[in-house]
Amino acid sequence: MPRIYIETYGCQMNVADSELMLGVLGREGFVRTDDPAQADVVLVNTCAVRDHAEQKVLSRMGELKRLKRPGGVLGVVGCMAQRLGPRLLERVPQVDLVVGPDGYRGLPELIARARAGERATEVEFKSWEHYEDVPPVRGTQISAFVTVQRGCDYRCTFCIVPMTRGPERSRKLEDVVREVTDLASGGTTEVTLLGQTVNSYDDGTHDFAHLLRAVGRIAGVRRVRFTSPYPTDFTERAVAAMAETPAVCEHVHLPVQSGSSRVLKRMLRRYDRDRYLEVVAALRNAVPGIALTTDIIVGFPGETEDDFRDTLALVALVAFDDAYTFKYSPREGTPATRLKDPVPDAVAGERLERLVAAVRDIARRTNVALVGSAHEVLVEGRAKRGDLLQGRTRTNKIALFPGPDAWIGGYRDVRFTGTTGSTFTAVPLDELAVVG
Ligand code: 5AD
Repeated sequence: MPRIYIETYGCQMNVADSELMLGVLGREGFVRTDDPAQADVVLVNTCAVRDHAEQKVLSRMGELKRLKRPGGVLGVVGCMAQRLGPRLLERVPQVDLVVGPDGYRGLPELIARARAGERATEVEFKSWEHYEDVPPVRGTQISAFVTVQRGCDYRCTFCIVPMTRGPERSRKLEDVVREVTDLASGGTTEVTLLGQTVNSYDDGTHDFAHLLRAVGRIAGVRRVRFTSPYPTDFTERAVAAMAETPAVCEHVHLPVQSGSSRVLKRMLRRYDRDRYLEVVAALRNAVPGIALTTDIIVGFPGETEDDFRDTLALVALVAFDDAYTFKYSPREGTPATRLKDPVPDAVAGERLERLVAAVRDIARRTNVALVGSAHEVLVEGRAKRGDLLQGRTRTNKIALFPGPDAWIGGYRDVRFTGTTGSTFTAVPLDELAVVG
């Protein structure tokens, strides 16, 4: 039986897509291996959102091509494959296969062609493609990613994703419910619903509010998460559904991108600073204690020191629990590459440093105030170092605490005893009762 190795870069949807590919290939008799040197087929599932992500993949390809076995197949799949298409074949001569996010159904055939000596590219968008008949092969049962929407119809001027993932489409609510019901009967209690603008979910009959309520009602589902929403796509009904569905976790990742209305306009975001703050207020009002995280880009063309200070001020005002921060990376073919007034790299770098410090500072303050509080955690496994268990609160905080393997996959109440500023040390509450 042919052995398949998949390496995944980028977002959670790529993780879910790799699970889909393992599903597509699994039913054709491929078996999974964790060792690329043992694999007959090596696939690298890629990200194109920033140049840095692509450079990482290219240098990794240099290593993987050396491991290629005689008759083996080396493929690049995902967003970078879609973006570069046949150009990737020229760039890396050892690559046999280039397949975009809508082409995974064709992988068995494309692999067969590659084995016959052909170098194949498949980068057509298929606006109907949901891989509905493909059962994903997931890495863990504890928590599952469930794609509910693919593609993106927005046109944020910095973003390559509409060009790599194609038009937006939502799965039928019944299909999502069926998949989550199956997961729950297999013991999965936490699901993360995935979409590029997940709260614009619309299957023609149901919207995101319907989706949250329907998934939250499924027996055995204890936690529902979703990522990433678009700030102004939360309807009142969606916010009410979040508040009224006990399984929906008290955490939202709400990408703001910039705190300056002027920059947001040039980014073609559909909100300004005040409107974003209104969404934050609506969420906090409906879901007390909700944790908020975000994405921020610095150095977008035309960003002035004043614009950047607006971003710093917004970070302090919202007091994000965490933020992913990026230096603007021009993506070929996106509208922002035609904007004037590029920000010099050194300036962008210096802003990034200040922003990271501000985010860290505010998160630390929030987290220090949480020391002493009690939380339910889902025990995900052993922590990377040491012999502690790692669990996650509903608000997406990570806690490390002592306990037996038997707790993995279950829920525990813990009390936070300390924080690094971002993660927590904790003790199980029942143990505390015994000690104290
Ligand atoms: N440059 C830098 N960051 C980007 N992102 C998307 N496109 C770019 C780009 N061209 C960031 C945004 C988005 C996250 C996934 O990546 O913040 O929310």
